[in-house]
Amino acid sequence: MTTCYDASFAAILGKTPVDCLLVGDSLAMVVYGERTTIPATVAQMAAHARAVRAGAQKKFLVADMPFLSVRAGLADTVKAAGELVRAGADAVKIEGISGNETAVRHLVESGIPVMGHLGLMPQFYHAMGGWKVQGREDNGANRILADARAFQEAGAFALVLECVPEPLAAKIAGELEIPVIGIGAGRFVDGQVLVLHDLLGLSRRDSTFARRYLDGAALVTEAVSRYCSDVDSLAFPSEKETFAS
Ligand code: KIV
Repeated sequence: MTTCYDASFAAILGKTPVDCLLVGDSLAMVVYGERTTIPATVAQMAAHARAVRAGAQKKFLVADMPFLSVRAGLADTVKAAGELVRAGADAVKIEGISGNETAVRHLVESGIPVMGHLGLMPQFYHAMGGWKVQGREDNGANRILADARAFQEAGAFALVLECVPEPLAAKIAGELEIPVIGIGAGRFVDGQVLVLHDLLGLSRRDSTFARRYLDGAALVTEAVSRYCSDVDSLAFPSEKETFAS
């Protein structure tokens, strides 16, 4: 699974073996340059879900329920999730289960599959005091394990575990029947997810757990610099790239 935010990348990813595309609320940071995911809105998530669906019609598409969109009552939760599904998402992802059990159950019973998200939950940036590995202490680990069980119990079809120690992720993946998809959660889970721009080397941030499969920033810089130099030297456009009449 990788994140995806627009139709151009979706069309490319649509031709790869990746199983699932995630319109993550990380788009607030990756696309809009915000410091956290908190500014992402339902309208933005829906617009980007629509774009990704237009680019990749056949991929399973999950969209994040953004900050507080599950906390303003069941009617608002249903409305927000409905917007994402109408925009083309096959499922929605929700950060945290505590206090969200009824919402998860209700969405699932309404025909909207729900993916859970535990461990480092970027929407809890302020409460967690920044970006920190979660579940290193016994208390935190037990809480994450209990929350993972609660997500499964409420009907979630899969769980993302972000930035937790490998043994904890392995224990949760071993215990749950639903697939556990890790990001910074080590090797012993059922699947992996990465932010596309981290994977492609297009990110402005460095991450210790993501692997860069391409130096995208260097390739883009090189290509645009060659274009500028061709324009300066009048090598672009050529006669072939010109309408004669
Ligand atoms: O928003 C996002 O990109 C995510 C992934 C990091 C799992 O939730």
